[in-house]
Amino acid sequence: MRGIVLAGGTGSRLRPITQAVSKQLMPVFDKPMIYYPLSTLVMAGVSEIMVITAPEDQPQFRRLLGDGKQWGLSLTYGIQHRPEGIAQAFIIAREFLAGGPAALVLGDNILHGVGLGRQLVRQTRPVGAEIFGYPVADPSSYGVVEFDGSGRVLSIEEKPTRPRSRYVVPGLYFYASDVVDIADQLKPSDRGELEISAVNQEYLRRGTLSLTLLDRGTAWLDTGTFTGLVQAGEYVRVIEERQGLKIGCVEEAAWRAGLLDDDQLRALAEPLIRSGYGDYLLRLLEWKSNASPH
Ligand code: DAU
Repeated sequence: MRGIVLAGGTGSRLRPITQAVSKQLMPVFDKPMIYYPLSTLVMAGVSEIMVITAPEDQPQFRRLLGDGKQWGLSLTYGIQHRPEGIAQAFIIAREFLAGGPAALVLGDNILHGVGLGRQLVRQTRPVGAEIFGYPVADPSSYGVVEFDGSGRVLSIEEKPTRPRSRYVVPGLYFYASDVVDIADQLKPSDRGELEISAVNQEYLRRGTLSLTLLDRGTAWLDTGTFTGLVQAGEYVRVIEERQGLKIGCVEEAAWRAGLLDDDQLRALAEPLIRSGYGDYLLRLLEWKSNASPH
């Protein structure tokens, strides 16, 4: 399975801080925002990834992430000229996906939870679509999923004024190879976008949409507003300082996935020592030789 991180858009809700820099490069406490969704894909066992950005932002993403080899990943880059919808990612990535299944993560979505990595690995051979459901206080600004007592999906609606459930769909999706054809057939919605909810509705219609509810021990953080961005950073800071474990550390995720060996992790730590980030990578190696936390 190949992965896509969609990191385009205009960042208009975070102007002026996104005037010159892409939203997904903004700091969330101690690392750029895109590290979090990238780590999510790596934890799910995906290592061939396309990063889709607006044309003007691509050089900065390349500077930050390179070709991914330093982390045992293969990163390629795609361009979205205008933010014409999340589902457009599959059309842009058509050749990269090479007729195989696809994982899509939104570049501003931060998911954190115990056992989440193991849970995600199970989704990487989808028959159709695998989406998640997460309860939120105000569902009306998301894709809302309604389901029955046995977890069977009844409806998916994008930003409904009257939500049929309090469960919404976070920006992490796993699809079989037919997703590109489905995206091709979509018509723009009233707001002029190829909607990811329309893709999910098509899988629902075909009877191949499955839903996994994320339990309340999983945190899904919003970075869409000034307050959300600060709160996400604060959440990461509090957990990291308390546990001494990092959230969204791509190096760690790659090392735990066996994509990097101990010597490679040690080499990555070196230039990051002064910020303390490198110390963390070295501590992982120390812990390994004693008892391993997770
Ligand atoms: O965060 C999850 C929600 O994301 C889902 O529940 C919704 O179903 C889905 O439509 C989406 O809702 P938003 O309205 O919050 O999406 P937004 O337009 O804010 O875009 C989410 C991210 O994707 C953002 O970082 C920008 C990026 N993006 C978005 C669009 C529409 C692109 O890179 N290109 C695009 O064309």
